[in-house]
Amino acid sequence: MKRLFYIFLPFLICACEDGLDDRLILKTSGEVALPEELSAGNSTIFMSSSKAYDQPSSWVTGSLLTRFTSGDALYDNARTGDDDPYTGGLGPLYAGYSCGACHKNAGRTKPTLHSVGGSGKYNFSSMLVYISRKNGALFRDYGRVLHDQSIYGVEPEGKLSVTYTEEFFEFHDGEPYALITPHYQITEWYADSIRPEDLNITVRIPLRHVGMGQMMALDHDELKKLAEQSNYPQYGISGKLNYIWERGVYQIGVSGNKAQHADLTVELGFSSDLGVTNDRYPLEVCYGQIQMMGMAMNGIQITTREMEDVDLYMHSLGVPYRRNVTDATVKWGELLFQEAKCHLCHTPTLHTRPRGAVLLNGTKLPWLGSQVIHPYSDYLLHDMGPGLDDQYVSGLAQGCEWRTTPLWGIGLQEKVNGHTYFLHDGRARNLTEAIMWHGGEGAYSRAKFSRMTQEEREALLTFLNSL
Ligand code: HEC
Ligand code: HEC
Repeated sequence: MKRLFYIFLPFLICACEDGLDDRLILKTSGEVALPEELSAGNSTIFMSSSKAYDQPSSWVTGSLLTRFTSGDALYDNARTGDDDPYTGGLGPLYAGYSCGACHKNAGRTKPTLHSVGGSGKYNFSSMLVYISRKNGALFRDYGRVLHDQSIYGVEPEGKLSVTYTEEFFEFHDGEPYALITPHYQITEWYADSIRPEDLNITVRIPLRHVGMGQMMALDHDELKKLAEQSNYPQYGISGKLNYIWERGVYQIGVSGNKAQHADLTVELGFSSDLGVTNDRYPLEVCYGQIQMMGMAMNGIQITTREMEDVDLYMHSLGVPYRRNVTDATVKWGELLFQEAKCHLCHTPTLHTRPRGAVLLNGTKLPWLGSQVIHPYSDYLLHDMGPGLDDQYVSGLAQGCEWRTTPLWGIGLQEKVNGHTYFLHDGRARNLTEAIMWHGGEGAYSRAKFSRMTQEEREALLTFLNSL
């Protein structure tokens, strides 16, 4: 584990417009970190290995570190159906056997859909599958999430199967690229089969846990201002905030691919993804389903104190520093990123509010406060065109609207998770495909990118890989 050191040199107060404060952060090598390298102020970590998403920030010490380690274990331990708080409570129905099963190394587990073509009792996809009627209503016997895994003696709700159609294209200079469109189907329904005409399926690849604490400490006044300013008719761009009802409060959503949650979804994740009951969701997700009739239901399987350790773990993960920031190609790519107007949605710089973040059981994390951060997201919703429309409404987000995915840490995804699948359902197999899927408000950027020379396109990708 690497540590940062702060030295206070008031006479060296940095006058950069960024508003960087008076702390100079030293890298482990002893060198002073460059401002461009600091992805998340005091939470930046100087590591670029496969564990780079999964390290505590340097301010995590003493009892915080003990709780971080406990949260890490609760998050990662593979669970079974027994009663142990650290390893039990799984199911009866579930989507993954631990948080870490889908978020390997606090990242985005390599999806098997492309290689295996589906999921089921013996084939784990690491994706979340949401189902609804065409009118948005949920099915009584299934609920919102398709639980395609189950413990012994219980049938999974169904099995996801996917086929892809591939289309081949060329850039103006002859370089080829291809896009694949997924087609989803659900088979082996455990109860009533649902007619495909009345079924909407949306599939989500896990999100990287880079900058979770910073996301929870975002300055909401800054986000509101950003939403007001995000109106660029000349480029066809206008973002909006998602507002959702959560804990009885109508509030800004920031997390999830449609910004459909206000917090880090720890209680929901345990309940809905793992089948682990808790104070906020005391009933098993399959409660009331036909196949559960007569089955004994368990009590609370994880306490709020334990879940707060998981919340702490995610909030205090360090954000990997930006690499190769003085490299000429990286700098050129950064200019091209701006020329293509990527930065109008993938906002390079935001700030956290002074008080930092508060965890779900009331613990305060002031270290997350007053930081200059570089998430490369505005956390706003944008219409990304019919190609990415999943017909699934979440709060104010329509089918075609998605939250700008934060790009910090994206250049390490291949090292951390061993793949380069991107976009909400992992359909893009590399960065070029991810960009070429941008439609709607992203169409200007896509057109700009496709008109660049091959060298320029590569420079832009080199820049993305420095994030
Ligand atoms: C079956 C796989 C799976 C499991 C198990 C799982 N997740 Fe996730 N997670 C996902 C997917 C997929 C998304 C994106 C969901 C969306 O956009 O609708 C996600 C999103 C998140 C996010 C939002 C991140 C962001 O950038 O907005 C957080 C936080 C999170 N998960 C935490 C957890 C925790 C904590 C657990 C364990 C209690 C957990 N997850 C278990 C698949 C999983
Ligand atoms: C109109 C706003 C907007 C603009 C402009 C824009 N993006 Fe995006 N970007 C998004 C949204 C929204 C997503 C998520 C879409 C999805 O998952 O379906 C996204 C996703 C991505 C992803 C995939 C991230 C991941 O981890 O899955 C990459 C890479 C990306 N954008 C790069 C770029 C680049 C490079 C440009 C400029 C050429 C650009 N974007 C311009 C809004 C935008």
